[in-house]
Amino acid sequence: MISRRTVNKIEKEARTYFLKAFSCHDWSHIERVEKLALHIGKKEKANLEILKLAVILHDIGRKEEMESKGAFCHAEKGAEIAEKILRRNKIEEDDIQNIVHCIITHRFRNNHIPNTIEAKALYDADKIDSIGAVGIGRAFLFAGKIGAKLHNNKKIDIRKTEAYSEEDSAYREFIVKLSKIKDKILTREGKKLAKIRHNFMAEYFKILQQEVDGKR
Ligand SMILES: [Fe+2]
Ligand SMILES: [Fe+2]
Repeated sequence: MISRRTVNKIEKEARTYFLKAFSCHDWSHIERVEKLALHIGKKEKANLEILKLAVILHDIGRKEEMESKGAFCHAEKGAEIAEKILRRNKIEEDDIQNIVHCIITHRFRNNHIPNTIEAKALYDADKIDSIGAVGIGRAFLFAGKIGAKLHNNKKIDIRKTEAYSEEDSAYREFIVKLSKIKDKILTREGKKLAKIRHNFMAEYFKILQQEVDGKR
């Protein structure tokens, strides 16, 4: 049993890693992922205390990753920092191991595969937060940040364009990356939610194009 007081203390420390974070990945991302992860976690019978701490700490390495201009992976860095925080707060060793596993595997990269229910719930929630209505909002926030377009020129094949280029847009992000997320989800409940969000997002971009073409 991890006390409420300890969780609050760890959360307070985690928040300090998000000061001045850009709105695609600020503390509100953590709050959304927490609600989603706990929803999935309940259905999958995950340990919700472990899951909550994993969510709170999962992106604390992002600030350093940005500062290093991507020289290392924020999941690996975050797991390292989190381990120290958890140990300092006297969390039990088995729990530390699981939380660190959740954090290091939350991107499913560099051979770090989510193996526990908690790790799968975090991975799914984190991915699902980038699609659906929230995903559309995040994609446009990001497009705005890099000076991308509102919509694409239909004559140009966006699959052949580059990220951060003149032809970048929220729609390009959807086609190249976000439209594939639904097939990468691991849990049953996650798959259900991802499908709903994906369909809404696809419909949104269809309507956007119709409006751009003056057909709606
Ligand atoms: Fe992350
Ligand atoms: Fe995240």
